[in-house]
Amino acid sequence: MEDHTPVDHSQPHRNINPAAILETIFSRYGYDFRHYSEAHIKRRLLNSMVRWRIPDTEHMKERILTDEAFAATLVNDLSITVTEMFRDPDFYRSLRTHVIPILKTYPFIKIWHAGCSTGEEAYSMAILLTEEGLYDRSTIYATDFNQQALNFAKEGIYSNDLAREYTINYQLAGCKSSFSDYYTSQYDHVIMHKSLRRNILWANHNLVTDSVFAEVHLILCRNVMIYFDKVLQNQVQKLFYESLIKGGVLCLGSKESLKFTNVYDRYSEIDKAQRIYKKKY
Ligand SMILES: C[S@@+](CC[C@H](N)C(=O)[O-])C[C@H]1O[C@@H](n2cnc3c(N)ncnc32)[C@H](O)[C@@H]1O
Repeated sequence: MEDHTPVDHSQPHRNINPAAILETIFSRYGYDFRHYSEAHIKRRLLNSMVRWRIPDTEHMKERILTDEAFAATLVNDLSITVTEMFRDPDFYRSLRTHVIPILKTYPFIKIWHAGCSTGEEAYSMAILLTEEGLYDRSTIYATDFNQQALNFAKEGIYSNDLAREYTINYQLAGCKSSFSDYYTSQYDHVIMHKSLRRNILWANHNLVTDSVFAEVHLILCRNVMIYFDKVLQNQVQKLFYESLIKGGVLCLGSKESLKFTNVYDRYSEIDKAQRIYKKKY
């Protein structure tokens, strides 16, 4: 039922209890945000409450429990899906220089994009592997717990404006061909070529509650753990450590680091600035 309680915007929900709201989401729907960074969660919850005109924690809990569509929207809001193709182009230059030679030594290659959002990172990898002659022997597992983002990713359709931005990133990343070789233009959007999607397996996977992927050569989990607290970062790092083969490579986002995690000693740094690590043992 609609809640028409007026919201006092001069007192924007200063006394909300994020922990109680997160418990409600977890116990009713199984999405576990209890170890996401407090500042991030509070900001997103406050935004939602103002937008939906929900005055306090009790009304918020009630709405979550009784309105599944609202809860789905809220879960979506709590997961930030901002992404780009060839995001941080220098990272891709480093991948090409330092990681591709390692991948070339394997007869087949398993790559896991954890938190792939709307697919741009996985398509970037598919392009890089194609240009390096490695795509045919690669399998890319692209996972996220946001089904809406995954559905979008599978389609591989992006606006012309985004394609223009991605073209610049592609060039800055030092790629070899022309970005337009990888899509077909239609009206105001572009569609990524089927050949890039051939070896990408999209799957719903929750890093907090689901299990490992076996024998992976390369994991990218970029701009995901920035929203996790230390406890959750360590838990997910354990998952990655157990998923990687010895000598496997782990890539994090520019504001993330293995330092201060429990597995730091078990990796060597391939490129400190670009957050690329190699599993030692
Ligand atoms: C900011 S995007 C990063 C996308 C891409 N990796 C990049 O760097 O451009 C963060 C993604 O992590 C996903 N995510 C957050 N928590 C997750 C979890 N517990 N399990 C799986 N994916 C999660 C979100 O749904 C979102 O799509």
